[in-house]
Amino acid sequence: MPITIQTYATKEEAVRVAADAFEALIRERAKTGKTAVLGLATGSTPIALYKELIRRHKEQGLSFKNVISFNLDEYCGLPGTHDQSYRYFMNEQLFNHVDIDRANTHVPLGTLPDAEIDAHCAAYEQAIRAAGGIDIQLLGIGRTGHIGFNEPPSSETTRTRKVHLDELTRRDNASFFGDVAHVPHHAITMGCGTVLDAKEVILLAWGEPKADIVAKSVKGPKTEMVPASWLQDHKNCVFILDRAAAAKL
Ligand code: PGA
Repeated sequence: MPITIQTYATKEEAVRVAADAFEALIRERAKTGKTAVLGLATGSTPIALYKELIRRHKEQGLSFKNVISFNLDEYCGLPGTHDQSYRYFMNEQLFNHVDIDRANTHVPLGTLPDAEIDAHCAAYEQAIRAAGGIDIQLLGIGRTGHIGFNEPPSSETTRTRKVHLDELTRRDNASFFGDVAHVPHHAITMGCGTVLDAKEVILLAWGEPKADIVAKSVKGPKTEMVPASWLQDHKNCVFILDRAAAAKL
């Protein structure tokens, strides 16, 4: 199934469209007392979306009481109290500002000893299945073509596991850590296969630096060297882009 492309003049407009999709799901499920299962992402890309969802919570009564969330990934070695951990990011950027039950929020644990990681990853996959599967998976995209922290090469069958981070990814994230030397070398991430199991996938990308990899992911061959290209196999995947990120399509 080809990836659906939606391009907007501004990031703000694009973010409203993405927020509409999340809001519609959450409200529709709430009407019948059901849960909405969201796959969430970190990084600079989704921050504007989280701000818009918080605004809708505060000003328009959008409740997150029926939301269960699973984040894509977490750095190895960083506890949830570390200001660069993705658990901390999610608390700061979304969870602290809405009425989600914290017990319903899941982020992989980055601090387990190696011997416990495989069991933790299997339990993470099991928790997603037990929740009924992910309804909407939100993604950003790295300049390596990674989704989550699935760096090239990552096959379409990969599941939640410990991975090694690409040097380009570490450099791209260096500014958050002050220095590239402080960026962890490993992470726990959902796999490409985990992402492909979601019922719907929404990938956001802003700005010229993402234009090349967006075009490769959408129009290039499906290859483990561009993990986001596996999204071409998904039945319900939309890329919501600003003009600059869509410039090479
Ligand atoms: P960014 O990262 O949102 O900070 O650009 C995206 C990603 O690496 O998935």
